[in-house]
Amino acid sequence: MSVTKRFFGTTADGREVNCYKITAENGMETEILDYGATVRTLLVPDKKGNMVDVIMGYDTIEEYENNDGYLGATVGRFANRIKKGKFTLNGKEYTLALNDGENHLHGGNIGFDKYVWKAKEITDGVEFSIVSPDGDEGYPGTLDLKVAITLKNGALSFDYTALSDKDTIVNLTNHSYFNLNGGGSIHGHFLTVNAVSFTINGEGCLPTGEIVSVKNTAMDFLTEHTIGERVDSDCPSVKLCGGYDSNFCLSGTPAVIARSEDSGIVMTVTTDQPGVQLYTGNMTSDRKGKGGKTFGRRMAFCLETQHYPDCINHPEWPGCVIKAGEKYKTKTTYTFGLKG
Ligand code: BGC
Repeated sequence: MSVTKRFFGTTADGREVNCYKITAENGMETEILDYGATVRTLLVPDKKGNMVDVIMGYDTIEEYENNDGYLGATVGRFANRIKKGKFTLNGKEYTLALNDGENHLHGGNIGFDKYVWKAKEITDGVEFSIVSPDGDEGYPGTLDLKVAITLKNGALSFDYTALSDKDTIVNLTNHSYFNLNGGGSIHGHFLTVNAVSFTINGEGCLPTGEIVSVKNTAMDFLTEHTIGERVDSDCPSVKLCGGYDSNFCLSGTPAVIARSEDSGIVMTVTTDQPGVQLYTGNMTSDRKGKGGKTFGRRMAFCLETQHYPDCINHPEWPGCVIKAGEKYKTKTTYTFGLKG
């Protein structure tokens, strides 16, 4: 395994951005930017032995700064939505930055995706770290955060650790957009999701608070289905968001298996998180991606392992509060192979 570093560019406000390439023993390769601790590429062998880049990204820092969608980024402090950006903790009401209509999404206007992280080479990868100040986008507590991104034995892993000096809330995820063929529509990709229930989407793609069985809905991936089969169906939670943009309540491991018959690539997602958001790029407008290739609507999907959206306002759900001085730890792994 080796790690190399190259200059990637300079942000509009003058910050230097570097790109770290991790090459694993088996020839798999990933590039990660210190801007947003963003995964830019991931090369995986397909059934013919060709390397396929399964992650969508851009060639320049300007494109990362000027486009929406959080491509490949580490997202926080709170991934996904918080209704009206409001929550109460220890009797005090907090109001976060509103950057998704009247709601808070993916950490606010300047979320962790827009930080330039410190980088340190570690065994099998790179550890990125930031300090998010008390009051950042409205969140309480100074948060010391590290994410170790490693590539080993076909597995891209994200190991997050955090520590706050005040009680606060944390929900971290990686926002990579996958296409196991390297491009084209994702409708033919097969998914299995280990979830017997999901949170119903309401207005603004926020959960209504109801958790229901996946049975007889387009959210039932307990047995394998293609993404395309029901992405445009009348299932209310799916229709409301123009396709899949929904949180599954995970009920076992592995959380998700995704595969493409064309490339033969299989991706298995394991996590200690209670939920996973499947987002099928319903809102992704056409844009130029790496190598000038067009990337747009339904051409990649995200599997954002996470706490349930807006969980801080639903005390009956698994909690996202971290206590002052208590170490927070979570891990998600995306493992690649071929269908045998
Ligand atoms: C959200 C989508 C949003 C996308 C890009 C996803 O995680 O669930 O609603 O459009 O991120 O911002």
